[in-house]
Amino acid sequence: MERIPPSGTLKMFDLAKKLEKEGRKIYHFEVGQPDFPTPDNVVEAGVKALRGGMTKYTPARGIPPLLDAIEGYYASRGHKIEGDSNVVVTPGAKMALFAGFLSTIDAGDDVLVLSPAWPTYRVMIRTVGAKPVDVPTKPGYELDEEVLKSKATKTVSALVINTPNNPTGGVLGKEQLRLILDLAEDRDFVVFSDEIYESLVYDGFKQTSMLDADPNMEHTLIINGLSKAYSMTGWRLGYAIGNPETIENMVRIQQNTTSCATSFVQAAGVEALTGSQDSVQKMVDEYQKRRDEITRIFCEIEGIQCVNPKGAFYVFPDFSEWGLSSMTLAELILKKTGVTSTPGSAFGEQYDHHLRFSYSLSLDDIREGLAEMRKFLATIR
Ligand SMILES: Cc1ncc(COP(=O)(O)O)c(C=O)c1O
Repeated sequence: MERIPPSGTLKMFDLAKKLEKEGRKIYHFEVGQPDFPTPDNVVEAGVKALRGGMTKYTPARGIPPLLDAIEGYYASRGHKIEGDSNVVVTPGAKMALFAGFLSTIDAGDDVLVLSPAWPTYRVMIRTVGAKPVDVPTKPGYELDEEVLKSKATKTVSALVINTPNNPTGGVLGKEQLRLILDLAEDRDFVVFSDEIYESLVYDGFKQTSMLDADPNMEHTLIINGLSKAYSMTGWRLGYAIGNPETIENMVRIQQNTTSCATSFVQAAGVEALTGSQDSVQKMVDEYQKRRDEITRIFCEIEGIQCVNPKGAFYVFPDFSEWGLSSMTLAELILKKTGVTSTPGSAFGEQYDHHLRFSYSLSLDDIREGLAEMRKFLATIR
């Protein structure tokens, strides 16, 4: 437990809760989950399975119809995978990641993390006894080839990438993924590609998967899940895609830990992946409106550097001009305006001049909250 640091963002949550109890209006820009309900057809499929008696253990790898649905989903995106050998279904993408780390990383290994990065990667890497090493990108999650090459030494056993990225919303393009794979082949490490936000991309952008670069998954483990695209965070349903050997090892871990993802949740997952995708499109359209508005407002605020995100539901503006640590600034903004954000330091030491804002809240709240914040920032600049 000594290797797991206490959450740096807990202080903000506690403060926001306290202010809310006192009757203050709080604008929740810190939330890391969709604010939409799970689509009705998915809920109905879960209820039907539950009422139909689907309440027992399932195969550790996942139920065959869901493995087929995942195979079909990837086929529709132009990727050939085999549901019964390349896939393991897990209780959330988090468990896919953790089982992946447990089965590929030894204690003492170095694991590169393309940063800024979701804090959970570093915590999990430490938990398995390995050492996370940040590989900073250029603004907007642009790969810095020289930095990556200099950090990818022979002692590195894995690299974690996340596209679209939490917290920047940046994506890695085809050439960047190819370059990463070349390096993985040359220095013999595994690339963990967390693609959980792949459906949440804007302006008709087509997200590139690491599978495009490495279709045989010799050096790649894809992490994905239904939490974000189908607004199913509480259902806990994720999966990994990789070569049969790695996946088999992960199945063994799952057999001996969680046993399987929840049975009727897996049935709901089949409906999510094979049923109508209209509600996903509706959510994406709404996120795009919010993304446009939030970046327009940030770009207008003097002193803030803001990159237009291509995907996910976060922006990660740079507040260097205020000269305060991200925790101090986030706390000040919360106390004075009710706007809750996530301090940049949570995503890597070098991001202590950034704040992450999620746009998983209504357009009205986005406009109102940021107007309050803007007035306040002008007074302390
Ligand atoms: C980058 C990233 N990967 C994975 C997850 C977790 O996904 P799940 O709910 O499937 O465990 C999150 C949740 O915030 C995330 O931001």
